[in-house]
Amino acid sequence: MPAPIRLLHSTPAGGPALVVTGPLPPSPSPRYPGELLALLARDHLAFFARLEACGDVAQLRLGAQRFVLFGHPGDLQRLLVTKPRTFARGRGFERATPLLGDAGLTADGARRPLHRRRVRPAIQRDRVAAYAAAMAGHAERATATWGDDTTLDVHEAMTRLTRAIIGKILFDLDVGDDPGGMEETIDLSLRTYRRALLPLGTLLERVPLPSVRCVQCARRRFARWLTDAIRARRTLGDGRDDLLTTLLRARDADGRALSDAELRDEILALLVAGHETAAVALTWTWYLLSQYPNVEERLHAELDAVLGDRLPEARDLPRLTYTRMVIAEAMRLYPPVWIVERRAVRDVEAHGYRVPAGSLVYASPYFVHRDPRWYERPDRFDPERWHPDRADARPRFAYFPLGGGTRAGIGEQFAWTVQIVVLATIARRWRLRLARNHPVALEPLATLRPKNGMRVDVLSRTSGTSSPSDRG
Ligand code: HEM
Repeated sequence: MPAPIRLLHSTPAGGPALVVTGPLPPSPSPRYPGELLALLARDHLAFFARLEACGDVAQLRLGAQRFVLFGHPGDLQRLLVTKPRTFARGRGFERATPLLGDAGLTADGARRPLHRRRVRPAIQRDRVAAYAAAMAGHAERATATWGDDTTLDVHEAMTRLTRAIIGKILFDLDVGDDPGGMEETIDLSLRTYRRALLPLGTLLERVPLPSVRCVQCARRRFARWLTDAIRARRTLGDGRDDLLTTLLRARDADGRALSDAELRDEILALLVAGHETAAVALTWTWYLLSQYPNVEERLHAELDAVLGDRLPEARDLPRLTYTRMVIAEAMRLYPPVWIVERRAVRDVEAHGYRVPAGSLVYASPYFVHRDPRWYERPDRFDPERWHPDRADARPRFAYFPLGGGTRAGIGEQFAWTVQIVVLATIARRWRLRLARNHPVALEPLATLRPKNGMRVDVLSRTSGTSSPSDRG
């Protein structure tokens, strides 16, 4: 049992509420010297699994940096919701800034609420439902070349599709074919994140290694493309009604418009946050459906009953309940944002332990969503858990694939809608089967990507059940 926490004194209004003393949380002991550092460099999921095994709060100090993992929904609520001033954005956001820009949307401080207010109307419930038909059109066109002999990487296909959807719907930009090389920038920046967490990681980033230079080139290339697109829209000055137009018209308190660079960073933040996560979520959903034919069958039954031969529209969304349950369950098992990070700006208490200021504090939907205290047979893909008639006795933060609190994913409505519509449009006509011998593995970068992509054989629902790999 940890010793009781002693609360020493309160500080003036607006300052830190309490100074906390108490024991530090338990740490994992390495199985061999350097094990945990090696895991941090190589395999983030394994690193955090070692922390998670220590209990609801665990910590590890590597060099000057302390890593703390919270695992109990009560502590997560405090981390994400009730103590926003105790935790600032983490190192991931900080390290991503030179690569992905410095959007007010994701910043700490005064710029942030203003930016959220500007962007929110474009991606709130009513508006997003109205995008459903356009999303379905994109998904239908993306599968126009599919046939019974097609084998493809569904992660690549979903990335191209969600990028095209978000680019076109929110900004009227054609980014489906990745004209500015955005994907390379994202890919490289997700990879450098792991290096940035290592002791001396910040220093490593300043060394002009070929990999660091390559990240900077990719970033410059995409930034140039996006700046040209923004300038073209400024000169056009047309009366479109999309988010880019809203941002072009936006003025701050001093009447100042956003500069090209500021606009570019806002657009980039939404494009990246929106399409990378939705593509990963859909990829794992396809994988799970290919492994659970009984779930797939029920999904098809709902799609046949609700849609028949037509594409989904806004009015169908409330009736696609099983489709939504499938997506909820897939995001439980494979939450695209598998870990959320903050930096404690003052000492804080969690579960009777003291978490010192300066610690990097983590909450992982991946581990919490698989905790047997909240989920019976947690490894099983069972969409019935999310049946609307089933009383949810779980604590609020036993499920948080879209985060929560002050930094909650602003795109929550968009995220649900795009997944439901894309899944319904494609599953209406196609089954996807994991290609024979495809090695499924996790690649826990900032998002939970499939390490080797996800090769699948495509089967039309009207054809038999054997896939090209079975036949070959
Ligand atoms: C399946 C899809 C999605 C998932 C799983 C997801 C998940 C998340 C999570 C967990 C966070 C919180 C990160 C944190 O607390 O540090 C977040 C933040 C964010 N999301 Fe999403 N998201 C998705 C789709 C979208 C979409 C479609 C958009 C926009 C169109 C979007 C925009 C954002 C933004 C701007 C933030 C940063 C908010 C901030 O820092 O205040 N997301 N998302």
